[in-house]
Amino acid sequence: MPRVKPVLARALRKTPLLHLDVAHRGRVRRLGLKLEEHGPTGSVKDRSAVGLLQALHDERPLTPGAVVVESTSGNLGLALARLLPSIDCVFLAVVDLKTPHATRTTLTERGARVIVVDEPDGQGGYLLSRLRRVRELCDRNPGYRWPNQYENWASPDIHRRTTGPEITEQAGLDLGAVYVPVSTGGTLAGISAHLRRHRPDVAAVAVDVRGSLAVAGSAGRRLLPGIGASRPSTFLHGSHGYDRAVHVDDIEAIAVCRILAEDVGLVLGGSSGCAVRALLTDLENGRMDDRLAVCLAADGGGKYRDTLYCDDWATEQGIVKEITAAVEQLRREGLFFDRKHQEH
Ligand SMILES: Cc1ncc(COP(=O)(O)O)c(C=O)c1O
Repeated sequence: MPRVKPVLARALRKTPLLHLDVAHRGRVRRLGLKLEEHGPTGSVKDRSAVGLLQALHDERPLTPGAVVVESTSGNLGLALARLLPSIDCVFLAVVDLKTPHATRTTLTERGARVIVVDEPDGQGGYLLSRLRRVRELCDRNPGYRWPNQYENWASPDIHRRTTGPEITEQAGLDLGAVYVPVSTGGTLAGISAHLRRHRPDVAAVAVDVRGSLAVAGSAGRRLLPGIGASRPSTFLHGSHGYDRAVHVDDIEAIAVCRILAEDVGLVLGGSSGCAVRALLTDLENGRMDDRLAVCLAADGGGKYRDTLYCDDWATEQGIVKEITAAVEQLRREGLFFDRKHQEH
C-alpha cells in the first residue's frame, strides 16, 4: 500500500512569479503574475487537491480501492485524477458541459470515471446540479468519500500555508495587493489569512465575474469555466476573507487574455484575464497605489485554445463582435504588456 502522507507531502511544487510592465491610460505599472500553470497538473487546484486529500486521510485513512467523488469544473478534477491513482484510490469526477473537452479527455485517460451533468441550475451555471448529483451518489453509496471543496476548510488552509507565503516571499516588501479569482473562494481565503497575519498592509482583492454569486452579485449567464459560482462562497464572509471585491465582465477578461497572448506570448486561462482586468479597473478608479500588484494566474490557456482563443467558438456563442470591440477599446485606452523582468 502506498504511504499516503509522504506521497501527498511530495506532490506540490513552487510556481514562478513573472514580472511584467503594463501600460494603460498613459501610465506604466508593474504587475506580477503568479503562474500556477507550472503546478504538476497546470493549475492552482494542485494545491487544493493535496490539502483536501490530506484532510480526508486524517479523518479516516484512504485505503486502496476507496472511491473519492468530487464536483469540479475541471481543474480540481485534473489534480485529483493525478493523485488518487498514486495512492491506489478511484476517482469519480462530476463535471458539466462547460468543462473543457480537453479536460474531460485527460480525466478519462488518467482512469477517472466521469459523469457530465447537463442540467443548468437556474443560477447561470451547473454547480447546484453537480452538487445534487454528488449527494445522490453518496447517499446511494455510503462508502464513497467526498472532499467537498466548497465547504472544506482544508482548501483555504493549504493556500494559507503555501500560496500566500510564496507570493509574499517572491514579491517582497513592495507588494501592495493580490488579485485572486474566486469560485469556491478557497484560494483567496487562504492567501488572505496569510496576508492578514504577516502582511496586513497588503490588500486581498476578490475577483469575480458578472453573473456570479460567489462574492455578492446577482445570477446571470457566465461564459468562463473556473471562476464564479452559483452560490455564495462558504469561505468569504464580507470583510472576513478579503478587503474588496471587483466584478469583471467576462468578454473584457477574454479580451485581456488575447492581448496578453499577443503582446508577451503568454496564453492564460479566463480567470487570469479576470484578475488582470480587475487590477486595471482598480487603477482606473485610483484604488491601487504605486506598489506591486500580483494577480493569481490560476491556470494556463492551453485547454481553452478551442474556446476563449478561438473565433469559431466566439461565433457560436454570438460574442465575436463583442470580443473584437473589447480588444479595440482596450487598445485605444493604450493597454500594452511588456516582458521587462525575469521570473523569480
Ligand atoms: C481557472 C480557475 N481559476 C480560479 C479558480 C478559483 O479557485 P477557488 O475555487 O479556490 O476560489 C478555479 C477553481 O476551480 C479555477 O479552476
